[in-house]
Amino acid sequence: MASFRFQIYILAFCAGLVIQSSCHGHSGLQKKHVALFIFGDSLYDPGNNNYINTTKDFQANWLPYGETFFRYPTGRFSNGRLISDFIGKNHLVSQPGLKDYTYGANFASGGAGALVETFQGFVIDLKTQRSQFKKVEKQLRQKLGEAEAYTLLSKAVYLISIGSNDYSIPLATNTSQEEYVGWVIGNLTSWIEDVNKKGGRKFGFSSVGPIASTPSMRVIQPGNTGPSGEEVTALENLHNRLLSEVLTKLKIELQGFKYSMLNLYTYAKERINHPSKYGFKEVKAACCGSGPYRGINSCGGKRGVTEYELCNNVTEYVFFDSFHPTERVYEQASKLWWSHNLEELFEI
Ligand SMILES: *[C@@H]1O[C@H](CO)[C@@H](O)[C@H](O)[C@H]1NC(C)=O
Ligand SMILES: *[C@@H]1O[C@H](CO)[C@@H](O)[C@H](O)[C@H]1NC(C)=O
Ligand SMILES: *[C@@H]1O[C@H](CO)[C@@H](O)[C@H](O)[C@H]1NC(C)=O
Ligand SMILES: *[C@@H]1O[C@H](CO)[C@@H](O)[C@H](O)[C@H]1NC(C)=O
Repeated sequence: MASFRFQIYILAFCAGLVIQSSCHGHSGLQKKHVALFIFGDSLYDPGNNNYINTTKDFQANWLPYGETFFRYPTGRFSNGRLISDFIGKNHLVSQPGLKDYTYGANFASGGAGALVETFQGFVIDLKTQRSQFKKVEKQLRQKLGEAEAYTLLSKAVYLISIGSNDYSIPLATNTSQEEYVGWVIGNLTSWIEDVNKKGGRKFGFSSVGPIASTPSMRVIQPGNTGPSGEEVTALENLHNRLLSEVLTKLKIELQGFKYSMLNLYTYAKERINHPSKYGFKEVKAACCGSGPYRGINSCGGKRGVTEYELCNNVTEYVFFDSFHPTERVYEQASKLWWSHNLEELFEI
């Protein structure tokens, strides 16, 4: 893969949840904003996969993706904004290609996993995202000087969503579930240590969402050799448990390490189990796709299957396409996360 052909989305960012607050404080660069660096998969990808040599399976830059909010496709895997948009307000001003990284950058790539082998060659894997971050860090040091760059990086917030894709493919041969999840968590841990060495202290993690409840898993996909619903759930549970153990340990080991956890699994399950409580009507079928439950990943008709259906009222749906939630779910999750304790990370 030509790793530097894509462009990194730059975030102009004011600390605050987009729906409830505005920018405040203008006394110099360090006080004016907290930089936001984002890593991971489609939960946060604002369109980075538009710039890599991949297949349409890993892209979403056609309508009706983006239609509800942006009115045009951005590459985001939803009908509108993502959690990272609600947290960082980056939808207002994000543009690829800008060279000012003092507000942060978004490296996330749909389909990416913690393991290099996950959809290798089609996504920007976490290792490549890490080297992209190092390039950005180097540029910041050149621009601001060592001390100021380190200060910026230590006040910055780092969000990551990783793991779902690692558990959507067949496990490496002769590898136990424990060993495999250990690799995923091990690679995530080494990312944390890496960022911490550059000054990073404030992290926002996400649990892996309930993959077995996605429309895609409700359908027998031709040629699918990945884990069954039960296996995926076992892997996720193991992942989410190991992750909290590791974070508890790192809190003791790494100086100044603070984190907030997006309980995506719980939030999504709550909505699936009690839709009317949260204003949803359809929790099984996707809004956009084909086949039973619209579980075939054909939203927009560009991924080989040209026919697809689109629901009339996306606000009633939990899932937009066969894998990804709707903007409404993301908006609710962002609000909950922010008020749970994410906000504290942004207090300088
Ligand atoms: C893109 O990837 C395909 C398949 O791996 C390859 O055949 C093609 O040469 C690549 N194109 C470029 C421009 O790198
Ligand atoms: C998997 O394990 C079996 C039994 O231990 C062994 O015979 C086989 O060669 C292994 N396969 C691979 C690909 O390592
Ligand atoms: C990272 O993942 C690779 C497989 O891609 C694995 O071999 C390696 O042990 C993992 N690293 C850690 C620190 O767990
Ligand atoms: C869409 O669904 C929501 C929630 O059920 C409802 O409030 C709204 O009126 C519906 N909109 C249309 C255009 O039917």
